[in-house]
Amino acid sequence: MGSTDGPSGNGEAGGDGSATDADPSPDRDGSPTVAVVGSYNAGFVVEMPRFPVPGETVTGSNFEEVVGGKGSNQAVGAARLGADARFVGCVGDDRHAEIARDLWDREGVDASAVQQVDDHTGVGVVFVDEDGENEIAVVPGANGRVDRGTVGGAADELAAADVLLTQLEIPDGPVAAAVEAADDAGLDVVLNPAPARELPPEVLSGVDYLTPNETEARILAGLDPDADADDEAVAARLRELGVGTVVLTLGDDGALVDDGATPERVPAPSVDPVDTTGAGDAFNAGFAVALAEGRSPVDAARFGCAAGALSVTEFDVVPSLPERPAADELLGQNDGG
Ligand code: RIB
Repeated sequence: MGSTDGPSGNGEAGGDGSATDADPSPDRDGSPTVAVVGSYNAGFVVEMPRFPVPGETVTGSNFEEVVGGKGSNQAVGAARLGADARFVGCVGDDRHAEIARDLWDREGVDASAVQQVDDHTGVGVVFVDEDGENEIAVVPGANGRVDRGTVGGAADELAAADVLLTQLEIPDGPVAAAVEAADDAGLDVVLNPAPARELPPEVLSGVDYLTPNETEARILAGLDPDADADDEAVAARLRELGVGTVVLTLGDDGALVDDGATPERVPAPSVDPVDTTGAGDAFNAGFAVALAEGRSPVDAARFGCAAGALSVTEFDVVPSLPERPAADELLGQNDGG
């Protein structure tokens, strides 16, 4: 595990030129580099007035075929926010894979370690209701074929990175392999546990930053997904799993950063949400980029919240992932700057 205080090693203001909460400027030489090991999904998005109940058909108001997958979304998000982004995963041999490769080319994401496997490219079916809330079902396909070998083939990508960012739309084996490799190389490890599932303690102990949303946090803490529980208590329970810092995302309430000392709340900029799909991807991209730049975890969470807030103001995920100037501007406004 790298330092739980972020790349500067102390997370504090310092006369040594390290980044501080008040100074968002990078303290590393070269581009911040984020390696993402994760999923790509072709997305099928249906807008509807409300979600169907079991057995019911609801007529949708709009349909779009889009690009998605938490891993790819987060890699594209990191690239838009100024990182050197590398994506590691698998696609099938179909038209969706071509669309994916075009996306990564266009967005400047290094996908040289992406492997083609004998399965369909991953698929995600997304329902969005009139409040902008979403429900998602994914069928892993090629994402389920990501394995330890896929990660081993990306050793150069991982070694060159500042931060590893991974999620749970791929099997446990490659998640564990990526965390191990990143720990060995001294990277900061960010695990976005989405969709939530139990993980072996040896994987969790290698995670520097665990970034669940409220539902995922409750599942991982062994509670009902919608349990009425105190955020600080949930975060404390997650820390007992052996991770370094818990960064609990709270939607329009921002985020809670608990590193085992004093939990700190980070507010989210106020925006009018249109579609919350992918807000977590934007947050994680921003959080990882800011960590790679040497910001403190709390500052990184602030930057993640700005990116997440911008992402919900537009329909769909990838089109809504913010570019760097917009995120910096919203962060400045939110800080009163
Ligand atoms: O986080 C949003 C993403 O989750 C969508 O792009 C969908 O593909 C699922 O992976």
